[in-house]
Amino acid sequence: EEHGGRGVSCGPALSVRVDETCGRARALTLALPHGPVITPVFQPVGTKGTIKGVTTQEMKEAPISCQILLGNTYHLANQPGAEVIRRMGGLHKFMNWDGNILTDSGGFQMVSLLRLAQITEEGVNFQSPSDGTELMLTPEESIRTQHRIGSDIVMMLDDVIHSCTVDDARFAEATDRTIRWLDRCIEAHKRGGEEDERNGFKSGPKHQNLFAIVQGGLDVSPGGLRERCLAEMAKRDADIPGYAIGGLAGGESKHQFWRVVDKCCRHLPAHKPRYLMGVGHPLDIVVCSALGVDMYDSVFGTRTARFGTAFTPSGSIKLKHAKFAKDAGPIAVGCPCSACRPARAGATQPAFSRASLHFLLKQASDNGVASIVTHHNLVYLLELVRSMRQAILDDRYPAFVNDFLRKQFPPED
Ligand code: GUN
Ligand code: ZN
Repeated sequence: EEHGGRGVSCGPALSVRVDETCGRARALTLALPHGPVITPVFQPVGTKGTIKGVTTQEMKEAPISCQILLGNTYHLANQPGAEVIRRMGGLHKFMNWDGNILTDSGGFQMVSLLRLAQITEEGVNFQSPSDGTELMLTPEESIRTQHRIGSDIVMMLDDVIHSCTVDDARFAEATDRTIRWLDRCIEAHKRGGEEDERNGFKSGPKHQNLFAIVQGGLDVSPGGLRERCLAEMAKRDADIPGYAIGGLAGGESKHQFWRVVDKCCRHLPAHKPRYLMGVGHPLDIVVCSALGVDMYDSVFGTRTARFGTAFTPSGSIKLKHAKFAKDAGPIAVGCPCSACRPARAGATQPAFSRASLHFLLKQASDNGVASIVTHHNLVYLLELVRSMRQAILDDRYPAFVNDFLRKQFPPED
């Protein structure tokens, strides 16, 4: 149903307005419990309640506004524990963030921590890397934990396997299990939640959105696994306010990656958000938005920053490279971040030159330089999606893609 200018309701805690489309690219406004989110959107990752290298305050004051962060159920359940977070009024209060939060379910940690997990029909059994204690994450327990965290978007627990696995039977099992787990997540989500008047904490189906995750490996054939998964999820659409595309960014070829994203976007409902999990390379964001993706997250930009790699419009640069030792320029000309901007009004020098960052990165000690490059990379990604949205609103996304590609891959002469 329509809510006037507020868009179409996708569930009790989300309505979506399609502001504009350009080809298959979309500019949406998601009305979420902690304010609007405009798309395309990049969600910085704060795995354990903080983005590595930058403070919550810095994110609030970022020159390009950030409306949603990502947290991680598995890590938070381990430390400090979801009950601690709930008692303090939820993750928003715990990390002093009043924007939106999306939490991943823990499913993906099966891949990233595979040696320490066993997967059965019941759930995933993790051994803690720090002290060896066991944590059984079932679909019900993942939802219950995300209720206690109080995130605005709760991800289903999915059975994720590495996209380069060659075992077809294992892919089929993971896809069918993900669908069975979706039913368990939907039930657990409907039953759970609470409203605590003392600290304003609210959780459960009226205040949180459960997103489904499409799995199915790299099989996009007619009647294949991705189609099967999409068809099963369509039957449950009334209980699903938004969808994620999972199982990618695991080392598959671009050829395969794009075909899966394309397939999923063509089959997912037009008025609901589409979130491509774990994708955060600038070029992938630009291409996948042309295919109809709305939301992204990845640790890539923040992780790579800590090793001295910075995003620029002409591609990423390794600041430790000797060629930057005497480079007085900013990381990226025109970047609105606090490192690239002039230190004072009227000054022409950037606050931090490439030469200065090069020198700081070469020091062995932790001198805070990682947080400067992290800030730059996050601002770059926030500005990238902002400018993509503007291009969609202006009906010139193809020209934007062209321009982006020419800068990243300049013609020979
Ligand atoms: N992060 C990146 N890919 C995935 C995925 O397939 N599932 C989940 N739960 N998280 C992810
Ligand atoms: Zn910058």
